[in-house]
Amino acid sequence: MIEVRSLTKKYGERLAVDDVSFAVQRGEILGFLGQNGAGKTTTMKILTCFMPASSGTATVAGFDVFEKPLEVKKRIGYLPEIPPVYPELLVSEYLSFVAELKRIPRSERPRKIDRVLERCNLGSVRKRLIGNLSKGYRQRVGLAQALIHDPEVLILDEPTIGLDPKQVTEIRSLIKSMRSERTVIYSTHILSEVAATCDRIVIIDQGRIVAQEAISALSSAGGTTKTEIVVQRMSDQVLRALRDIKGVSNVQPFSNGAHRIVVESEAREDLMAEMSQVVVNQKAGLIRMSPVQLALEEYYLNLIGGRRDMQ
Ligand SMILES: Nc1ncnc2c1ncn2[C@@H]1O[C@H](COP(=O)(O)OP(=O)(O)OP(=O)(O)O)[C@@H](O)[C@H]1O
Ligand SMILES: [Mg+2]
Repeated sequence: MIEVRSLTKKYGERLAVDDVSFAVQRGEILGFLGQNGAGKTTTMKILTCFMPASSGTATVAGFDVFEKPLEVKKRIGYLPEIPPVYPELLVSEYLSFVAELKRIPRSERPRKIDRVLERCNLGSVRKRLIGNLSKGYRQRVGLAQALIHDPEVLILDEPTIGLDPKQVTEIRSLIKSMRSERTVIYSTHILSEVAATCDRIVIIDQGRIVAQEAISALSSAGGTTKTEIVVQRMSDQVLRALRDIKGVSNVQPFSNGAHRIVVESEAREDLMAEMSQVVVNQKAGLIRMSPVQLALEEYYLNLIGGRRDMQ
């Protein structure tokens, strides 16, 4: 659905995007992960025809973003870093203005506006001034303008930045609800965000792609995983028994209030079962057992480790 080949962008002497290539399949949610200044927004602006590249090509639904910008824009919904909303308009006025801009036939506009208001949970604020809305609601209005013409492709630039945890969850589930129905590229610098929402990630650092992986492959990066075990009673016996399990490489006890044990092991499901059996046999009082997504974090930091900020 989206193909980017050797995309390069220079701002004067500054190389912001450096020979970037990736593809996104139809119906896929791709997380575009990178630190501040990595080149996420620049890549997205090129894909959405806001800015030309210095070299390389990009196509959306088979249309070249440089040669056929109108065809591309028809198929893309774009939520920029700063939502392009007008504070002096009512939510409903703004959406009807956007609908007109996107050339939705007049007769279809009310239906499309209602649909997007419902989808983005904006019904209750349709008659409010955008300028008076909270940041989370304004972000949803931004998402509504990206969705109004029913685009096949959605490009979202840090859609959850600055939102409270409840709003983050809502936006995430909205994005997840589009899985398989639309193709989504979603930028963020927050790792847990991509793990929670995306099928696959592309990691960009200093303008270059440093990894492209399926999320499932990443959470057990390097073939190891960490499991957090919370018990009622910590003892040397239980730690020893856990260390004795074949496939376990490290067992670390923590005791601040609750008794926590972090076990590093090969990424195999049967090991989880074995660990819980050991804890129960040792009568440690198993309270909780959960995988820790640390492997992903470490993998990411290793990739960009030692690299300096370009700023
Ligand atoms: N208009 C511009 N003129 C000059 N340099 C720019 C311009 N826009 C971006 N840059 C530089 O290009 C690089 C990539 O910026 P970009 O905004 O694409 O990064 P980003 O990954 O979106 O970062 P953030 O997470 O902070 O949004 C940075 O070094 C930035 O300073
Ligand atoms: Mg950015």
